Amino acid sequence: MKKWAFILILVAGTFACKGKEPAPEEVRKPQIPAAKKWVIGFSQCTFEDPWRINMNKQMEEEAAKHPELKLIIANGENKNAKQVADVENFIVKKVDLLIISPREAAPLTPAVEKAFDAGIPVIVLDRAIESEKYTGFIGASNLAIGAAAGQYLAQKLGGKGAIVEIEGILGATPTLERRQGFHEAIAAYPELKVIYQQPADYKRSPAMQVMQNALAAFPKIDAVYAHNDEMAIGAYLSAQASAREKQMILVGIDGQGEAVKMIRAGSLQATFVYPNGSAEAIQYGLKALRGETIPKQIVLTTTRVTKDEALDYPGF
Ligand code: FRU
Repeated sequence: MKKWAFILILVAGTFACKGKEPAPEEVRKPQIPAAKKWVIGFSQCTFEDPWRINMNKQMEEEAAKHPELKLIIANGENKNAKQVADVENFIVKKVDLLIISPREAAPLTPAVEKAFDAGIPVIVLDRAIESEKYTGFIGASNLAIGAAAGQYLAQKLGGKGAIVEIEGILGATPTLERRQGFHEAIAAYPELKVIYQQPADYKRSPAMQVMQNALAAFPKIDAVYAHNDEMAIGAYLSAQASAREKQMILVGIDGQGEAVKMIRAGSLQATFVYPNGSAEAIQYGLKALRGETIPKQIVLTTTRVTKDEALDYPGF
């Protein structure tokens, strides 16, 4: 036998022996049964904006505190059809719990009902659906936030003025409620009027376009009520490009860090913190998984941030 072949046999033999007599560490491992993890599928409508990115991050952080949970987040890519497919996929995978923040109410309702009917507990977050077939809803009151924004503008403008309203995605429940709460509040002031009202899908650049149109059409704009901070920032940028930003009060919703900085600097006037509820979704979800009953509606609180209020609020 050649010398190298002999060495090869020796080496192979060593490995074979190792295989038969595993180290104590290796013996122990397979004897511990892998702990059963509950799989949570989170159907997020989009990953596009800071509010959603922060929501995902906080949900991951909360889930990581519970080793018995495995969180999977699906990106709906701001398309109803993609989000429906994500939910269907979670149903096929038989997740133990579904958390969903639906893009629009009507198109997502059948998919959520299907998950619920399949016996999957469902937590609906921030945007609602058109059905009672879910376990719990978590979110702040958008009616109350809209009303608070209306009262703030009425007070700042002395009950008189021309307002531009930039709306979110039309089929999303926060949009309807932020509009309704606001209009109910300003109805008490007959000289306070919404002169221009257009959707910009909760996004900055469409809001810049809406604001450009408003600026071109109206020589006098006293205030902008934007349904979120991204759109308030977009409106500000357009007003600034026309050198008219100092002539108006701009209000947003969310409590985004960039907006808070602009409020402290005096560029925007107010925002209303819109908590994303992601930590609560995990906490209540865990209760539901353990078979405990959870409330059908969990209402989170908001905080008004202005130059002089909520000074320790950092935003996200
Ligand atoms: C983010 C967002 C927030 C808004 C919320 C409403 O996608 O548009 O800015 O407050 O969704 O559901």
